[in-house]
Amino acid sequence: FIPPATGGAGGGTTAKDELGNDVSVSKFLENRNPGDRNLVQGLKGDPTYIVVESKEAIADYGINAICTHLGCVVPWNVAENKFKCPCHGSQYDATGKVVRGPAPLSLALAHTNVNDDKIVLTPWTETDFRTGEEPWWG
Ligand code: FES
Repeated sequence: FIPPATGGAGGGTTAKDELGNDVSVSKFLENRNPGDRNLVQGLKGDPTYIVVESKEAIADYGINAICTHLGCVVPWNVAENKFKCPCHGSQYDATGKVVRGPAPLSLALAHTNVNDDKIVLTPWTETDFRTGEEPWWG
C-alpha cells in the first residue's frame, strides 16, 4: 500500500531514470515482477533501489545502493535474494540490512510515495525498521 504523498507540491525528490527523466510508476511496473529491486536516481542523485511488491505496487521504502563500507554500488542478486557487494564481499538481506561485513552498517533507507504516477522520495528520519535503531544516515 502506498499512501498519497503528503505536504503537497515541493516535498521530496522525484525518482529519475538513467537518462534523468522522471520514472513513471505504471511503466516501471509493466515489466517487473514482485520481489524485483531496480535502481533509480533518488535523494541527492544516489542510486536507490525501488522494491516491487506486486504487479500494482512498490514498497513504501527505497534502499540506497551505496555500500556502507567504501561506497561501491551494491548489485541485487536475485538468485540469492540478497545484495552482494563486488568490492569486498559485504552482503545485505533483501531489505538492505547488513548480514556480512566488512560493511559496518545497513544500507540507508528513503521513503517512497507515488504521486501523479511518479515516484517521490523523502528522507527517512524515523527508526530503522530493520534494526530498531535511529538511522545512522540522518
Ligand atoms: Fe562494499 Fe567494501 S565497498 S564491501
